[in-house]
Amino acid sequence: MSLYRNAVWFLNGIQQYTRKGYETASRHFDSHDLDVSVVGRSFMVTGANSGIGRVTAMAIAKKGGTVHMVCRNSDKAEEARADIIRESGNTEVHVHIVDMSETRRVWEFAETFRKEYTSLNVLINNAGCMLHNRELNADGLEKNFATNTMGVYVLTRTLIPLMQKSRDPRVITVSSGGMLVQNLKADDLQSEKGHFDGVMAYAQNKRQQVVLTRQWAKANPVIHFSVMHSGWVDTPAVSTSMPEFHRMMEGRLRTMEEGADTVIWLALCRAASRTRSGQFFQDRKPVLVHLPLAWTRSSSEDIQSFMAQLEALANAIQSKQPDILPSSSLDLTKPLSV
Ligand SMILES: NC(=O)c1ccc[n+]([C@@H]2O[C@H](COP(=O)([O-])OP(=O)(O)OC[C@H]3O[C@@H](n4cnc5c(N)ncnc54)[C@H](OP(=O)(O)O)[C@@H]3O)[C@@H](O)[C@H]2O)c1
Repeated sequence: MSLYRNAVWFLNGIQQYTRKGYETASRHFDSHDLDVSVVGRSFMVTGANSGIGRVTAMAIAKKGGTVHMVCRNSDKAEEARADIIRESGNTEVHVHIVDMSETRRVWEFAETFRKEYTSLNVLINNAGCMLHNRELNADGLEKNFATNTMGVYVLTRTLIPLMQKSRDPRVITVSSGGMLVQNLKADDLQSEKGHFDGVMAYAQNKRQQVVLTRQWAKANPVIHFSVMHSGWVDTPAVSTSMPEFHRMMEGRLRTMEEGADTVIWLALCRAASRTRSGQFFQDRKPVLVHLPLAWTRSSSEDIQSFMAQLEALANAIQSKQPDILPSSSLDLTKPLSV
């Protein structure tokens, strides 16, 4: 089955995820969709110093929005900020240093932000990683899961009350088409079973983001949630985490601007927030979240268990009980009493 999924996914990818795929899809874009001003609206972009996140932050700044860049490396963040201010002429660009793999830090940052600011219109969960060795964060969580899933979960969950008070609020999460090869593994969210494969752990996290987005959309009707795939984009993440793939696809990868296009569209375009909340987008259109005949659908029990585990982990981390976290023997399908 996984061979079938991988083969179908790759063939689809060659057609749709490459630069050629973007060129074909973009012929149907409405050229006026991004003729907007977002002066007075505020946007948070995680991983905003590089690749898709940086291009997105730049596009928002050029349209007049206030940008909150959430980055882990101060030098890289300040360099990107200076560049964005210089090129956009917009000085409302702020840096917040947060390592998204450190879940408790993410929560502390989000709590402070929520109290300090009166509104946040758009949250863009862009920061992501693919680590090939199993590493744990300070809370005992596997780091791909901590960055790609728990960081997104805790940041969004904590900022939802602030966003609910803001006008036309939107949450956009940068997932990956790679999630199509994985079904939600509610009994192994942190890839603890069997041989650790960073590519598959990443794909699992990206599937988790898609499931999470749909659940959030159901639970929070005031906010517009979307999740998206950028296509295969020539960014540092791809050249460092997947060097062979990067070499093989040389000349066929999308530019960062092409990869960021749908994030920018979801963040800025008025029509985007009129689409049904909770969908998975590619090239400005909702697309299916399962490959044909791939058996990747999840049962409602698995989805409930997944959501309960995230909530239990978030509560435990907020309550500073790190020693109860890494044990897979705990029944985290039931909320912890902390
Ligand atoms: N490129 C593709 O083909 C592709 C395809 C599908 C999905 N995506 C997704 O697109 C998103 C952006 O990636 P990209 O391709 O634009 O790569 P990138 O240029 O390497 O950007 C990744 C960004 O995430 C930040 N980041 C990673 N771990 C972090 C952490 N623990 N705390 C804070 N920030 C962290 C990086 O910070 P540093 O600069 O400090 O490392 C960087 O700013 C990711 O979620 C990725 O999974 C990319």
